[in-house]
Amino acid sequence: MASSVDSTALKLSQLGINADFASSVPNLKKNLHLLSAEQVDLVKILLEMGQTHLFEHWPEPGVDDNEKKAFFDQVARLNSSYPGGLASYIQTARGLLADSKAGKNPFDGFIPSVPTGEVLTFGDDSFISFEERGVKEVRKAAFVLVAGGLGERLGYNGIKVALPAETTTGTCFLQSYIEYVLALQEASNKLAGGSQAEIPFVIMTSDDTHTRTLELLESNSYFGMKPTQVKLLKQEKVACLDDNDARLAVDPHNKYRIQTKPHGHGDVHALLYSSGLLKNWLDAGLRWVLFFQDTNGLLFKAIPASLGVSATRDYHVNSLAVPRKAKEAIGGITRLTHADGRSMVINVEYNQLDPLLRATGFPDGDVNNETGFSPFPGNINQLILELGPYIDELSKTGGAIKEFVNPKYKDASKTSFKSSTRLECMMQDYPKTLPPSARVGFTVMDTWLAYAPVKNNPEDAAKVPKGNPYHSATSGEMAIYRANSLVLRKAGVQVADPVKQAFNAQEVEVWPRITWKPKWALTFSDIKSKVSGKCSISQRSTMVIKGRNVYLQDLSLDGTLIVNAVEDAEVKVSGSVQNKGWALEPVDYKDTSVPEEIRIRGFRINKIEQEERN
Ligand code: UTP
Repeated sequence: MASSVDSTALKLSQLGINADFASSVPNLKKNLHLLSAEQVDLVKILLEMGQTHLFEHWPEPGVDDNEKKAFFDQVARLNSSYPGGLASYIQTARGLLADSKAGKNPFDGFIPSVPTGEVLTFGDDSFISFEERGVKEVRKAAFVLVAGGLGERLGYNGIKVALPAETTTGTCFLQSYIEYVLALQEASNKLAGGSQAEIPFVIMTSDDTHTRTLELLESNSYFGMKPTQVKLLKQEKVACLDDNDARLAVDPHNKYRIQTKPHGHGDVHALLYSSGLLKNWLDAGLRWVLFFQDTNGLLFKAIPASLGVSATRDYHVNSLAVPRKAKEAIGGITRLTHADGRSMVINVEYNQLDPLLRATGFPDGDVNNETGFSPFPGNINQLILELGPYIDELSKTGGAIKEFVNPKYKDASKTSFKSSTRLECMMQDYPKTLPPSARVGFTVMDTWLAYAPVKNNPEDAAKVPKGNPYHSATSGEMAIYRANSLVLRKAGVQVADPVKQAFNAQEVEVWPRITWKPKWALTFSDIKSKVSGKCSISQRSTMVIKGRNVYLQDLSLDGTLIVNAVEDAEVKVSGSVQNKGWALEPVDYKDTSVPEEIRIRGFRINKIEQEERN
């Protein structure tokens, strides 16, 4: 057996660095014989990248040896999960930290202008034909849910996708998404004459969400989807940085670990690429990848038409957007053209848009135009990418997305940080590396139809300036009822006006609590085909449609109506339904006797009386 002295000598020669340098890290040198050849390769990277401080506190061999090995397991993970490895991460960090210190503006030299895209009006002829096209296309699509975020602003103790999107039926976000995908799959296959295509459903998780997402799926039989149709991809966190030299931060809770923090949802591109899924999808004839987020209960109402736009306009990248009020806290989709000829269509964060406009010949900055809205559409971070061009691009970049760094400096000298920082990347920055020939567009839809995320806790939501969206569990649920009410109105149903009510100190419009399963209707044409005669629904009413072939005809509802229908059974619902119904009762978010998922919305439903039809 080789002595530790021989083994150390061997490893020093493997390191290929001079003995003086190795001696400057005596604590590492003493422990070298414990390490495998692969681990010594990682040592080499760390030393070359100026990370000797990581070993300064290492004790003699024999003390905490397992922890030292575990340290290298972590380094190996950090190295393999980042395109280009740790050396590239540190290199990029140094460049970005230097730019940040120098106050360099990433948009220097770029002139903003309004890009071209499609602006849709719900229910008109063109909307209907885009929806039709979208449903046709969707069997060639894969859906990717990014759900690795911790949700610090919401502060909910569970994972966000397990939260009920609405409490009338208690359907959680994940269930709703899966049911939409299954309904789209069925409708699209039917249009294709009975094709059996299965739409792949990917969920990006992180250590913060992975186990609980899997448990949620397994304890609910994947909400009706085949388990093989669902794929979880777990994103890794990235190393934290202590200073402008990008020295990796030692975890304050364990000196044998590097501190890590989330890298952002931009990881989804590298993960999809390295998983090999994209290639499989292309081989299987798929054409689209749709990215969406964890808590937007309205999104799927916008999907058929937006996908129709992608297919009709041949968009390589289609960003879903809503009309944006000037200075509203959502990014604007912007074309940026550089004097050197570079050009891209990209999301510009709201805090960067105003200074960028002012610096480039628009002295009023971020202002509304004659329409009463900013000319730059508001990005809601749902993307539709065309698979072929997407793979072509990722084979050049490996899925690496332009990153940024956001250190909180201790003082104006910008030499030290209040706490460690890290590189971050965003899914919507994907177009930044695309060539100017790429077809990048957007689809604007009404906010009431497409966007109501649940991001803020009740306390912060109550402080949102009047007129701005709360983005809370309360507003997210109310938005679903409002959208369903407005859609039915457009289809000719007399839906009563809403009343204003405050829950958790947020004033919201309370519309009748109308919900339906996606298999009942996915598009406006579906709705119109299922509603006829003179139908009316009073404000205090609740209506739940669970079946597929349910037809509302001359229905007058004042109370609660639940319609169940077994698979293909046809159920006609008509006449007058009147009962005491279900009442909304205020609860306070501080009342811990009420389950968290209820109290964060500020009301619970008292189910007094209902009529069920089958
Ligand atoms: P959010 O803006 O909601 O961020 O992310 P968040 O991290 O979930 O919430 P806060 O900022 O802590 O309050 C938008 C989407 O991106 C996902 C989230 O799960 C959400 O669907 N995300 C975010 C990731 O998948 N990974 C990340 O590292 C960050």
